[in-house]
Amino acid sequence: MILVTGGAGYIGSHMVKLLLEHNYEVIIFDNLSMGHRASVPEHVPFIKGDLNNHDQITQVFKKYAIKAVMHFAANCYVGESVNHPQKYYHNNIIGLIHLLDAMREANVKNLIFSSSCAVYGRPPKRLIDEKTVREPISPYGRTKFFSEKIIEDYSMAYGLNYILLRYFNVAGADGDGKIGEDHKPETHLIPNILRHLQGKQKEITIFGNDYPTTDGTCIRDYIHVTDLVEGHLYALSNLLHKKLNREAYNLGTGRGYSILEVVQKCELITRKKALIQYKERRPGDPPHLVANTRKALKELKWKARFEMDDMIHSAWHWFLKHPDGYPIDKDGR
Ligand code: UFG
Repeated sequence: MILVTGGAGYIGSHMVKLLLEHNYEVIIFDNLSMGHRASVPEHVPFIKGDLNNHDQITQVFKKYAIKAVMHFAANCYVGESVNHPQKYYHNNIIGLIHLLDAMREANVKNLIFSSSCAVYGRPPKRLIDEKTVREPISPYGRTKFFSEKIIEDYSMAYGLNYILLRYFNVAGADGDGKIGEDHKPETHLIPNILRHLQGKQKEITIFGNDYPTTDGTCIRDYIHVTDLVEGHLYALSNLLHKKLNREAYNLGTGRGYSILEVVQKCELITRKKALIQYKERRPGDPPHLVANTRKALKELKWKARFEMDDMIHSAWHWFLKHPDGYPIDKDGR
């Protein structure tokens, strides 16, 4: 059985779907602080629990025969982490330690960890490879960097097997339109642009147009969520078959888009005109983050298949089908 923490969240729910399609048995542990009960398939065991509660996570390992953990449950907003570091250190670091300790107690040795390109900070090279020095510039990035270090130390001391996956900017939705991105509040670029074009927000705010980039706005490497979870599946299979261990991989496309380019693409696909408002730079944002994807291709044999247009099309499809996001369930999520 594969334990997916955060399996009711945006990326976690896409992971669960893919695991089920590949006949893995799955169990979800999620506190529903950001996730949605409605995104969980009915037949999948779901435990509403919090990683900050050691007992709750320990019980899961006592009850189920877990072979590997895919750990998605964490807070992920760069901007928010600057103002609320306590939330990030508690949930991302202490939560991880409880999970690792519960794994140790139950002798579960395999971990796929959701890391981030935020660990690289303001990288010196245009294309970031995995050997680039990790010097995060936001509390969020630091929680991912410290998490990587904790996992490395647990591995050396206790024989934990792991693969760290460093995500670039995840976007889009599954092709069947049943699961997608529904963050409350939403801070990510593509959903915010599409929500605006859908008439749900009166404008799109761009944080900073004085960066040292071609048009002055930040450049990011956007990756389709379907590609991203496929990368996880490859990593999991390699870990379980003992082909790869103690490795880190960038999951990106290797192609950067400025914020203005993304806005233009969204306008073209939705055939609507955006109203842009420029504001100050958002604290914690590096100007340019684009992956060197060679290592993932060579070792995981994985490569992103989808383009920016596919991400926007699939996200737009999801938003049109779910104008108010997921239905609220009895847990209030
Ligand atoms: N941005 C805007 N307006 C918005 C939203 C975002 O201008 O309404 C800008 C941001 O300032 C940033 C860029 O668009 O320059 C991308 O911002 P996102 O919030 O979409 O994504 P981030 O790069 O801040 O962070 C995301 C994830 C992190 C992950 C990171 C990797 O939230 O978990 O991608 O770059 F680490």
